[in-house]
Amino acid sequence: MKIVRDVAAVRAAVAGSGRVGLVPTMGAFHEGHLSLIRAARAACDVVVVWLFVNPTQFNEKSDLAGYPRDEERDAALAAECGADILFAPSVAAVYPAGFATTVTVAGVADVLEGALRPGHFAGVATVVAKMLNMVGPEVAFFGAKDAQQVAVVRRMVADLDIGTRIEVLPIVREADGLAMSSRNVRLDPDERRRATALHRGLTSARAAVTGGERDAAVLARLVQDELADAGIAAEYVAVIDPDSFEPVEIIAGPTLIALAARVGATRLIDNIEVAP
Ligand code: PAJ
Repeated sequence: MKIVRDVAAVRAAVAGSGRVGLVPTMGAFHEGHLSLIRAARAACDVVVVWLFVNPTQFNEKSDLAGYPRDEERDAALAAECGADILFAPSVAAVYPAGFATTVTVAGVADVLEGALRPGHFAGVATVVAKMLNMVGPEVAFFGAKDAQQVAVVRRMVADLDIGTRIEVLPIVREADGLAMSSRNVRLDPDERRRATALHRGLTSARAAVTGGERDAAVLARLVQDELADAGIAAEYVAVIDPDSFEPVEIIAGPTLIALAARVGATRLIDNIEVAP
């Protein structure tokens, strides 16, 4: 596996080598990231892993400062999963002096995470637009864990006629259901135990849908009660259309239940798809 640091080097490395797959990441790899790299390996001729802790998408300075970084470990794991190129640019390579362009997506980027984390999705959309232009992949692989990010990226790619296909892979979870996240390492043992309520709440809502419940307010309440039992107050529990992220009142088709909650000082998100 080759490590490259700038756009000229990545373009030279992928030139003329067939179907290029890109896996965008901020590092601190866990099985969620590795599942994306393996899927890219299975589907593409060349696998590029993007590793960049993007400062513009962090709305809390302490979150950026404390974000786990270990390029050496990540490089070894990416190589093990079959990546051909690790593209790990510096902040100056991504945002050189004079950088002045921001991509903002209206609508889907304005609600939930977008409303609670001002500037977050503009940071994501801008860096994703940049990496797609730098690498020019045929396919880019994203995780369903960040469902709103997927909806924002899909909207942007369609609106800007970017020729990359967006492939989405299922959420990888710990054995007790907690969605894998680079931020899970910040949970103390008690918080880690209580954090299982997120997935428990979502699965009980899904079971209720299977049992015939169609009322979104009832489903959201079920999730909130499960969180409350674990001493967790949700920032939101939303029952929404998976593409537009507009609220759904009665479940009539594929619907997403998404939540964000602080467990101690650590902010976690999770979601589940339900259908009648
Ligand atoms: P990061 O948080 O590192 O996530 C990289 C990719 O891994 C995302 O597509 C995310 O949805 C996926 N992922 C994270 N946890 C997962 C899990 N438990 N199961 C499956 N997939 C999971 O998302 C970002 O980085 C950044 O916003 C980025 C797109 C790289 C732009 O900076």
